Amino acid sequence: MEKLFGRSKFKTAIFISGSGTNLKNLIIFSNKKKSPISVNLIISNKKKAKGLMYGKKYKIEQKVINFNNQSMAEKKILKLLIKRKISFICLAGFMKILSRDFISKFSGKIINIHPSLLPKYKGMNTHKRALQNNERFAGCTVHYVSSKLDSGKIIMQRKVGITKNESLTSLKKKVLKLEHLIYPKAIKKILA
Ligand code: GRF
Repeated sequence: MEKLFGRSKFKTAIFISGSGTNLKNLIIFSNKKKSPISVNLIISNKKKAKGLMYGKKYKIEQKVINFNNQSMAEKKILKLLIKRKISFICLAGFMKILSRDFISKFSGKIINIHPSLLPKYKGMNTHKRALQNNERFAGCTVHYVSSKLDSGKIIMQRKVGITKNESLTSLKKKVLKLEHLIYPKAIKKILA
């Protein structure tokens, strides 16, 4: 078993749906001695999620779970989480809204990263809406997952200025870089 200064690391599952850059970043973080987590399982609701390449690369168990029947999907995931003794979950670009029942089973042990300065811009297309509203700042937030979308208690938030000629692409890139910086910091804050 992996140890963190004589303590076991929290066995963690990362849930993804897409490109998985936060997943990759968290895997690299988890491999550091000082990290309080080890990444033991990757769950994707998309067979074609690009992020699945990182599971292969870093030899981490990964499962694609079809969410057509969400209640069945959650049951399957729960069973697996228990079997693998997972005690912490990080959502990283996971595009499904988990049920209240599922979340309650991991209360205080599921966190998410969202690309906006919550409580502003919950949900999708955060950058587009921020630009349309001529916001001066954008940013990202790590928060606990609650049954209300993007509304759980905030753990950490960072902001970045939006420049005059900011494009959607440049803003997304800028915020993603910030996400990679704060997700590990937020995990350390609550677990280390
Ligand atoms: C990130 O912007 C994250 O905040 C949002 O979805 C995106 C996922 O990116 N929830 P990646 O899959 O980690 O590259």
